[in-house]
Formats: sequence, C-alpha cells, structure tokens
Amino acid sequence: MKKKALVTGASGGIGEAFARALARDGYTVTAVARSEEKLQALTASLVGEGHRHEVADLTKGEDVERIATLFASEHYTLLVNNAGAGWYEPFAEAEITRAENVVSLNISSVVALSHAFLRHAERGDALLNVASILGLLPYPTGAVYAASKAFVLSFSEALWYEQKGRGVYVQALCPGVTASNFHVAAGGAPHEQPSAWLTQSAEEVVDEALTAIERRAKPTVVANWKNKVMLLFARFLSRKRVVLLTGKW
Ligand SMILES: NC(=O)c1ccc[n+]([C@@H]2O[C@H](COP(=O)([O-])OP(=O)(O)OC[C@H]3O[C@@H](n4cnc5c(N)ncnc54)[C@H](OP(=O)(O)O)[C@@H]3O)[C@@H](O)[C@H]2O)c1
Repeated sequence: MKKKALVTGASGGIGEAFARALARDGYTVTAVARSEEKLQALTASLVGEGHRHEVADLTKGEDVERIATLFASEHYTLLVNNAGAGWYEPFAEAEITRAENVVSLNISSVVALSHAFLRHAERGDALLNVASILGLLPYPTGAVYAASKAFVLSFSEALWYEQKGRGVYVQALCPGVTASNFHVAAGGAPHEQPSAWLTQSAEEVVDEALTAIERRAKPTVVANWKNKVMLLFARFLSRKRVVLLTGKW
C-alpha cells in the first residue's frame, strides 16, 4: 500500500524531523505550515518523490477546513498533528487573543483534522497527535498551553480506545524539552533555554514516536526516559505540591 502522510507544523523543529524521517521511510509527505519558503525548501530536499506543501494558518477556521478536505479527496495513511504554540506570561496579564490563538491551534485544529482524517481512515492507518509532558503537569505562566496539551492527551487516549477495534492506531506523543524554535517563539529569551541535560533533539523524539507507531501497542509515548522518571516521581506528590514545584521552573 502507498504510504502517505500529512504533517502539520512541518516548516521546522519536530514537524520537520517527522517529514524527513517519514520520507526516508517511504512516505509521500504533505507538509503544512505558514512559512511557504521553508516548506518549499523542505519538500524539495526530502528523499523520494511526490512530496508537496500546503500553506495554512491553522488558527484560521477556513484554512483548517481546506486542509481537512484533503482527506476526502485522497487517502492519507498517517496524520501527524504537530503544529502547536505556547507563550510564557501570567494568564491575566496577557491579551485574551493570545489564549484564543493557542486554543484554536493546539485544540480546535487538532479536533477538526483528527475528525476529517478518521472519517476516511482504513485499517492500518495511524493518527499521531503531539501533546507534551506539560499535558500531565499544570504550568504557571503557561497555563493555557499546558491545559491545551492536557486536552490533546486525554482526547488522543480516548480515540486510541475507540479506533483500535477498526485497526486504526492513535498515539499521543508527549515530548519533554526539545531543541527547536519553540522556546523563542513562545517568548522565551534565547539565553534562557531549558537545561541541556534534559533536552532531546527533534530527531530523537521522532525516532521514539515512529518506533511506537510500528509497534502500535500503547496510546501514550513519553519521549526520553528522564521525563518518564520525572513524571513517575510527580505521581507520588499531591497536585498542590506539583503546581508549587512547576511554578518555580
Ligand atoms: N520544543 C519543545 O520543547 C516541545 C515540548 C513538548 C511539546 N512540544 C510540541 O511539539 C510540537 C512542535 O513544536 P516544536 O518544538 O517543533 O516548535 P517549533 O519549532 O516552534 O515549530 C512549530 C511548528 O508549528 C508551525 N505553526 C505555528 N503556528 C502555526 C499556525 N498558526 N498554523 C500552522 N502552523 C503553525 C510552525 O510553522 P510556521 O511558523 O511556518 O507556521 C512550525 O512548523 C508543538 O505541538 C509543541 O507544542 C514541543
């Protein structure tokens, strides 16, 4: 069967690493993001043929609808809902539009594209939604971002159960700190990058996610054993203790 993947947020970071790894694995890739030049350069450099790009701002309903119609017109075997954004600022001090944009991109577009994809999915296909370890941890100054990833995590785990009977695999991928433009795009200062010892490369995260897609065994993939240990430790603490700790990060 011809393998065909659509990757959102493919112009950089984890999404670009997904596009490159999938092309190497024999997928034909449709790369989606806002930055046309980066997408063009990416698709031109991918291994194999037939790759293309779609420019879309996934905070905009009409752009999400346009991408969703692709699943009706051609059969995709994998959707990677990777595009996501956050920002660092106390919630009440920020303009509400910042929160609305995060909700539109990180939640609404993921729901709409997952629905359109699953309507046309066939046995053997897969849906991968990029959540975060912050989906399991409340995060002061990133309240809406962490809550949006809690949504993606819960949503994807429930879909995993709903879809397994028809042979469609659903994965919630929870990266921890990953080297990409995310931190700076979220308003973090370049010199305040999170600790290097915890940081994975985008390629390492993608490798763990794709191995799990091959195995099709578990709904949730927490990237990096160090994150797994940290989350295990957090399970023994009260929720109050956890938020008191993450508030100091
Ligand atoms: N980096 C981390 O530490 C980390 C940790 C946990 C989870 N994550 C998650 O991993 C995913 C990828 O993040 P990353 O680290 O690779 O960040 P990144 O380097 O900032 O990449 C984000 C991607 O999303 C695209 N994007 C942003 N806003 C968009 C919009 N409105 N419409 C369409 N595409 C949009 C960007 O492309 P354009 O700007 O060209 O549109 C870019 O391709 C996100 O869901 C993020 O929440 C990241």
